Amino acid sequence: MAVLQDYLQLAMGVKMKTIGNVIVGQSGGPTAVINSSLAGVYETAKKKGAVKVFGMVNGIQGLLEENYVDLEEQFTSNLDIELLKRTPSSFLGSCRYKLPNPWDKAEVYEKLFEILNKLEVEYFFYIGGNDSMDTIKKLSEYAASIHSSIRFMGVPKTIDNDLEGTDHTPGFGSAAKFIGAVMKETIVDSLVYDLKSVTIVEIMGRNAGWLTGAAALSKTKECAGPDFIYLPEVPFSIDDFNSKVIELQKKKKSIVVAVSEGICLKDGQLVCELSDRVEYQDQFGHCMLSGAAKYLANQLSAKYGIKTRSIELNTLQRSASHLTSLVDITEAYNAGGAAVNAAILGETGKMVILKRASLAPYVCVTDTYDIQKIANLEKKVPRKWINEEGTYVTEEFMDYIKPLIQGELVPFMADGIPMHITMKR
Ligand code: F6P
Repeated sequence: MAVLQDYLQLAMGVKMKTIGNVIVGQSGGPTAVINSSLAGVYETAKKKGAVKVFGMVNGIQGLLEENYVDLEEQFTSNLDIELLKRTPSSFLGSCRYKLPNPWDKAEVYEKLFEILNKLEVEYFFYIGGNDSMDTIKKLSEYAASIHSSIRFMGVPKTIDNDLEGTDHTPGFGSAAKFIGAVMKETIVDSLVYDLKSVTIVEIMGRNAGWLTGAAALSKTKECAGPDFIYLPEVPFSIDDFNSKVIELQKKKKSIVVAVSEGICLKDGQLVCELSDRVEYQDQFGHCMLSGAAKYLANQLSAKYGIKTRSIELNTLQRSASHLTSLVDITEAYNAGGAAVNAAILGETGKMVILKRASLAPYVCVTDTYDIQKIANLEKKVPRKWINEEGTYVTEEFMDYIKPLIQGELVPFMADGIPMHITMKR
């Protein structure tokens, strides 16, 4: 209806009603489709008549230093928008900045609102995960306390898929597709020699095992899939792991295992902490998780004298924009657009969520959800979607994940390499 109205207004030469200025930022770890949400916010805001759409450079942290760009100067053609959808990382740059509580440091909020008022911003959008939703929560609460009319909306993103309230998060489907694909290639490669070997692949996701479970997508008619999958939802035992691997190796020489970066022992100690690594913590108190696969592979080799390899997928799984899921990239765009529409209709202090309206055929719609019930929380893989032994995901998990990885967005290539867009400064 709104589209028809816009069309009629244009056709009749009626000047479109404008809406106030918009600002959008990206925050937290990137995904391969976070820029598609940026495209969704930008194009919808422009279509709805926003005069200015600003982009925060490096999220709220950059905004505090008045670091922003006018997005109309960044995206001058449809090709720019199409390239944006195919560009990994966060186009605007990101941050892991925790806003203080307003009662501890009111001056931070006073400064932010001064900047927003100077830019005549009426709508504020933040594309991020659970920590970034903490920013939307605090800003919308503060806005209410000072009777500001600026509306604050969250747009979900995270490869971890651990946001409450939403069926899944934009970014997860593409990371899952990449993991399924490279896992399959790794398994095929591991069979090349007639030799005993163990390959351990480490997958991101912090305390939630959604992404690690995606390793099971490699199981197809021509590939057996990984032999074991270890999620952080189930306490990990090194002795049990070793004996399972050694037992299975009596029947098959090449073993491939997927482990989450966040697997923990019964007493809560992270397996990656046992490895030789340097500690790094962000402002939200999250330490960088890395080294579990290396530790497990090394101790297997040392104890049993077998050939092992560890592969840490690391940032590859969130930056592989050459292999995104079309479903995911479309939903990411729609989530951005839905946030703009909801804010124009008066919503604030909410996050857009994705709802599975139908299973077969898969249909997904958007809605909004109270930010208070999302910020700082983590949604884990239900225990019933992991087998009893804690070594694989179930068919229900597969039914949930498969629709999210369907279709591809073909990259634009130049000289044999995918093309991207970068910020003009
Ligand atoms: O939050 C998403 C995520 O990619 C996690 O899976 C991972 O543990 C973390 O970010 C890594 O963050 P960073 O890039 O800041 O080290």
